[in-house]
This record gives sequence, C-alpha cells and structure tokens, in this order.
Amino acid sequence: MIVEIHADADALARAAAELMLREMRAGKRRLLLAGGTTPVKTYELVGRQATAADYKGVHIFFGDERAVPPEHVESNYGMVRRAWLEPAHFPPERVHRIRGEIDAERAARLAEEELRAVTGEPPGLDLALLGLGSDGHTASLFPGSSSLGETLRLFVPSRSGRRITGTFPLLNSTNRVVFLVSGPTKAEAVRAALNDPPGAVPASLVQPRGGSATWLLDREAASLLT
Ligand code: 6PG
Repeated sequence: MIVEIHADADALARAAAELMLREMRAGKRRLLLAGGTTPVKTYELVGRQATAADYKGVHIFFGDERAVPPEHVESNYGMVRRAWLEPAHFPPERVHRIRGEIDAERAARLAEEELRAVTGEPPGLDLALLGLGSDGHTASLFPGSSSLGETLRLFVPSRSGRRITGTFPLLNSTNRVVFLVSGPTKAEAVRAALNDPPGAVPASLVQPRGGSATWLLDREAASLLT
C-alpha cells in the first residue's frame, strides 16, 4: 500500500497530475477516470501540461456515471470534457463514456462491450483513478449495494438505475489503482479503508491486478490515520 500525504488540495492535484502524466509517458494507454468533484483540478492540470504525443494511443474510460445526459451538470463525462478533453482537443473517438442518458442496464452492457472491444480478452486497464465517498464508496459501489457482489460483469446499474458503475472485476483487472481523496469529510472513510479489515468499506475491496493501490491524500483526509 502506497500512501502519499500532501499539504492541501492544490498540492494533491499537482501530485495526481504529475502521476498521470508520468504514467502516460511510461506507455500506460488505457485509463479509467473518477467522477465527482475532487479530480477536477487534476484533470485541468493534465489538460494544460500534456502534449499530443502524451495522448498517442490513449483510451479513456469512466469508473461510473450518473443517469443523466452528457450536458447535465451532474454528468461525470461532462465534467471531464469541460476540465480536460475539450480544452486539450483530446480525440473524441478514444473517449468511451458511459451513456447516462439511456436505460442504465443497456448503458452498462454497451460500456462493457466497448471496453472489451478496445482492451481485448481478458479485459484489462492500465490505470484507474478513483475517488472515495464519506461512506467509503468508490465509483458507484455503495455500502450494502448488490453491485458489490458482482463477480463477472464489468459495469452494472447501481442505486436503482440512478447510476452505472464499474465493478470490482473491472477495478481489480486494472494494473494500477490510484485513490484521490481530499478534505476532512473523508477522514473517517480513509481511516476505515486503510486501517480496518478489508470489506469494512467498499473501497478497501479494490485490489488491483498489478499489486497494491496508491492513496493520494491531503492532510485533512489523512487526519485520522494511525
Ligand atoms: C461519482 C464518483 C464517486 C466520487 C465520490 C467522491 O460519480 O460521484 O465517481 O465515486 O468519486 O463520491 O466524490 P467527491 O470527489 O465529489 O467528493
């Protein structure tokens, strides 16, 4: 387990952007992105610093999506497009968004088909950036939800179809997972994910194929760690 603690949200975003650029420059081509609000600054920094050469052969996938159209303010794809992809003129044909505007079951199946078409079999991604909710959820894998028990599919509906989420089979087929967590409201969830037995919160069940997860935290999010 790699845990990095940075002074504040700005330092955290810089460290995360540097890590993503390093991974892309090291040939990591299949990236899974987190939604929510924490990664916005990181995506903006990557968009400003990356070159066209860095994007060569890069495919972008999403860890989860809300059941909304891409232009909706709640859309994770919409957030990444505004913060990174559009300003950076990232090739749209290599952006594999989850279609939040259609039926969640159909969106989940299409997302899986598209991912398998790009990665081949067995499916595998190079880098996944994940967030953490104050209840310990990651992607849209919420405590107590049936999606936690999925063992085969890569994407399933979550929260009664209000979300579509990547599953543990998808996240654990990823070579490297990086959690990006900021702020005091996440401190208890971070403590549970890192200090309690696996399974205490959904995030601690993420065990990437390539070994341990990396946790990028700011001081407030790390404040309860022993
Ligand atoms: C989402 C995310 C979710 C997010 C956490 C943290 O769609 O909301 O994928 O897992 O990463 O809820 O969200 P914040 O970064 O907004 O605190």
